Amino acid sequence: MACIVGGLATSHVPAIGGAMAKGLQKDPYWAPFFDGFPATHRWLDSVKPDAAVVIYNDHGLNFFLDKMPTFAVGAAPEYRNSDEGWGIPVLAPFKGDTRLSWHIIETLVGAEFDPVSCQEMLVDHAFSIPMELFFRDRAHVIPAVPVVVNTVQHPLPSLARCFKLGQAIGRAIESYPEDIKVVVIGTGGLSHQLEGERAGFINKDFDKVCMDAMTGDISQLTRINPHDLVELAGSQGVEVMNWVAMRGALTGEVVELHRNYHLPISNTASGIMLLENRPRLAHAA
Ligand code: DHB
Ligand code: FE
Repeated sequence: MACIVGGLATSHVPAIGGAMAKGLQKDPYWAPFFDGFPATHRWLDSVKPDAAVVIYNDHGLNFFLDKMPTFAVGAAPEYRNSDEGWGIPVLAPFKGDTRLSWHIIETLVGAEFDPVSCQEMLVDHAFSIPMELFFRDRAHVIPAVPVVVNTVQHPLPSLARCFKLGQAIGRAIESYPEDIKVVVIGTGGLSHQLEGERAGFINKDFDKVCMDAMTGDISQLTRINPHDLVELAGSQGVEVMNWVAMRGALTGEVVELHRNYHLPISNTASGIMLLENRPRLAHAA
């Protein structure tokens, strides 16, 4: 049976892609962000997961306002990256794990989640940048299952629903018959707002609540409705929905191994987390 080794989360600001292409990781502006990654690389090198389930949001590349699924799951052999307008380098296609994809889709539909299944799918910076940040280069990159959550067009799914989606994904992975190790990744956040009167809005206190809730009391987040979440996190900070779904997929005892928080990166408070999923000890009946 497959097992879930842990969860990773990172912000996915497009400018990070430009910084990596220019080799600016040690630049004073960028170092406080990129210095958050070696701990995740060491962990990935020791745990060696076989596949990644990547929960993120599309920003108008694959889905646009005319057709906006609340949840979608990729089921393609490969996922092409493309530029939806930021001018950052386009990365080589990412390999999919179609068997795991279909198992997750079938399990989700069986659990009364009804995602759109995508046998062709473009992936934007919210998928490609975290893959590059965590897996560094093509020698390290592992096959992925992209899971898309609508964080863009209201009505948004609630944080409670995102958590339950994650729980259903967790159950799907653990019922997958192959002996593989799976890491679950959530991308986006933390607080930011790119437009309107509150452009530039950041909320440090709420970002700490989000990070602490990953190992603490998740109801601190799941009780917040989508409109209050916009108020607290900013209109794009709602991307923390992807973190909450990732957290929902961790079925065991969740232990924080590492976090990094720095602001601003572009307009965003950047957060990185590494969560271990320790199997719960089975109790005698
Ligand atoms: C920025 C942040 C995002 O999450 C995004 O998708 C695009 C831009 C930013 O801060 O520039
Ligand atoms: Fe974003």
